[in-house]
Amino acid sequence: MKAMVAITDEKPSGWTSNPGPLRCPHCHSALHRTAAGFHCNGQRCGASFPICDGVLVIRDAPTDDNKTAADFYNSQLWPKVRFWEHLFWAVNGGEKRARDVVLRRLPQRPGLCLLDVAIGDGVYTSWLPEDWSIIGVDVSTCQLAACRRRNPSRDLRLVLGEAEDLPFYDGEFDAVLSNGGFNHFNDPEAALREMARVAKPGAPVVVADEKPDFLNFGHRLGLPGLDRWIASRVMSMGDDFADLVERHRNIDIAAIGRRVLNDSSYEVIWRGGGYLLVGAAP
Ligand SMILES: C[S@@+](CC[C@H](N)C(=O)[O-])C[C@H]1O[C@@H](n2cnc3c(N)ncnc32)[C@H](O)[C@@H]1O
Ligand SMILES: [Zn+2]
Repeated sequence: MKAMVAITDEKPSGWTSNPGPLRCPHCHSALHRTAAGFHCNGQRCGASFPICDGVLVIRDAPTDDNKTAADFYNSQLWPKVRFWEHLFWAVNGGEKRARDVVLRRLPQRPGLCLLDVAIGDGVYTSWLPEDWSIIGVDVSTCQLAACRRRNPSRDLRLVLGEAEDLPFYDGEFDAVLSNGGFNHFNDPEAALREMARVAKPGAPVVVADEKPDFLNFGHRLGLPGLDRWIASRVMSMGDDFADLVERHRNIDIAAIGRRVLNDSSYEVIWRGGGYLLVGAAP
């Protein structure tokens, strides 16, 4: 891990002395709270993980597509693309209604312990019951900072890290959610395996996103380059993220779900623009 300046955690961050389900991503030993973050107790490991501005830094140097995603969501391009996201929600009856199609698949019971993978700025966190305990993982420092600002008072613990290597023990969470990032992960199948691993056996794993080939105007016309141009220039995604969207357009979400989850179901939602994958952790 690259060196980072550890800022003593003065503001409440949710990361109290209880490490909860945390394990060392390197050696899988237990992590212990220190003044500046967490420390691994494993013999010969001794890794340290700082808490910076309330966010536990497990990995701050993502690679390949995860780096492209982190750079994009840390940049000024994402606020521009959000215009299109808002338009997408408007076409689907408004953001709350459209997101509820996904959120209502989470178990509705008190005191739930939820893992949100790629939590972003946590727009919907306030729509989840106040007594739920939420751990959110994301590769973007800017999105996690925004999530923290948006949710100053609830039981929310944030981790800078990658979906493909979650720093939690097996079978810890009552439910796992991932909305809006899955298509663009370095390795969506490895990420889904991780989500299933950390969920309690039988717990629901709920994944939703736009369909990977959502932008298909050009492909239908036999002009595939047009979709990349629309993504990059019209929708302001920039060249690198537009290339990433294009590279991942053929991933088979339903097949990934069948390989990883029990009772996996794949459903097209949002007027054909998105999908909802739900299954039970084995
Ligand atoms: C469109 S935002 C979705 C945020 C939020 N879940 C929502 O629905 O509004 C996608 C998020 O995925 C994150 N992300 C992308 N790849 C990731 C990965 N491999 N692991 C964790 N987070 C990732 C990005 O940083 C970004 O915050
Ligand atoms: Zn360790």
